[in-house]
Amino acid sequence: MLIAPSLLAADFANLQRDIEMVNHSEADWFHLDVMDGVFVPNISYGMPVIQAIGKYAQKPLDVHLMIIDPDRYIDTFATLGSAILSVHYEACTHLHRTLQAIKQKGMKAGVALNPHTPINVLEDIIEEVEVLVLMSVNPGFGGQSFIENTYKKVRQAKELILKRNSSTLIEVDGGVNVKNAPKLIEAGADVLVAGSFVFNADNPQEAIASIKK
Ligand code: DX5
Ligand code: ZN
Repeated sequence: MLIAPSLLAADFANLQRDIEMVNHSEADWFHLDVMDGVFVPNISYGMPVIQAIGKYAQKPLDVHLMIIDPDRYIDTFATLGSAILSVHYEACTHLHRTLQAIKQKGMKAGVALNPHTPINVLEDIIEEVEVLVLMSVNPGFGGQSFIENTYKKVRQAKELILKRNSSTLIEVDGGVNVKNAPKLIEAGADVLVAGSFVFNADNPQEAIASIKK
């Protein structure tokens, strides 16, 4: 299993320090949340900040776009060094085309589903999805509490992936902590995003290690 700390919960005035903490931890990816204030009711950070993060981050950048019309920025995020680029199902009219465009730029293509969006909308595209991000909170803010219905969705997603013999990774995003992590892994999750659980901990590296265990 992989851990992706979300820098949304980092101290933005000490970003380099927090990036180095993740570099030296057992974490696997950096999870970067980009919000446009339209698709979600919050604005986080954008290109200049991601460029600055990329200078110090020594692990893959897992970029989660919570923006409308994400196609406009695929080239930009490739240039910024994203390894994984996830778009929201709810924000894409031509999802198949969008995923092809992401892959063409050399990134792994991810699709995020809001808590209300059922797994079965991906039946005809799951083979094209390299990372499936299941939102376990309503996107827009860190520090919210985990939605219990997510376990069921992880199991359904795993079933679909196995049925199609797809290599899609299941990533769970929102409210992840040391308590729900084992149940999520048991249900079939491959990647766990953790923001506030990691960065609000007295010892963030230990918090990462505790989930990994
Ligand atoms: C929510 C973001 C999450 C968030 C996770 O919109 O997509 O990645 O940063 O933060 P926590 O772990 O605090 O819920
Ligand atoms: Zn996210």
